[in-house]
Amino acid sequence: MADIVRLRALTSSTLAVTFLMVLVTGIGLYFAPSGRTARIDNWHFFLWNRMQLENLHTIAGFLMSAVVGIHLILNYRMFAGELRSLLRKLLKKHFGKTSG
Ligand code: HEM
Repeated sequence: MADIVRLRALTSSTLAVTFLMVLVTGIGLYFAPSGRTARIDNWHFFLWNRMQLENLHTIAGFLMSAVVGIHLILNYRMFAGELRSLLRKLLKKHFGKTSG
């Protein structure tokens, strides 16, 4: 497999996994009681206590943010093209015919 294809596959799968982790731990944190109550009640969201949820959420969140950056760089040309075409359509709709 070519290096760029491998990098794309690695980026996409890391994004999918970290997004799921951030989403699930984020939902857990949304319903979590305060730190003290969680400790006293031995509160768990599936397998994880509040502190583990916070750590997983923070690590996966920052990893996901870094991979989003790589994802944007890898797909910059297509993204810029889509933005240009959207902008052209909007300009045409509001101001009539545009050049190009
Ligand atoms: C699907 C996206 C996300 C959801 C649904 C989500 C949800 C949440 C929720 C509900 C909390 C707890 C807030 C509270 O206790 O007041 C939280 C805390 C936090 N989130 Fe997220 N979040 C998301 C994405 C991210 C990302 C991308 C990052 C990092 C770049 C991040 C970093 C953090 C940090 C550092 C905390 C504080 C954790 C702590 O209490 O130590 N989150 N998030």
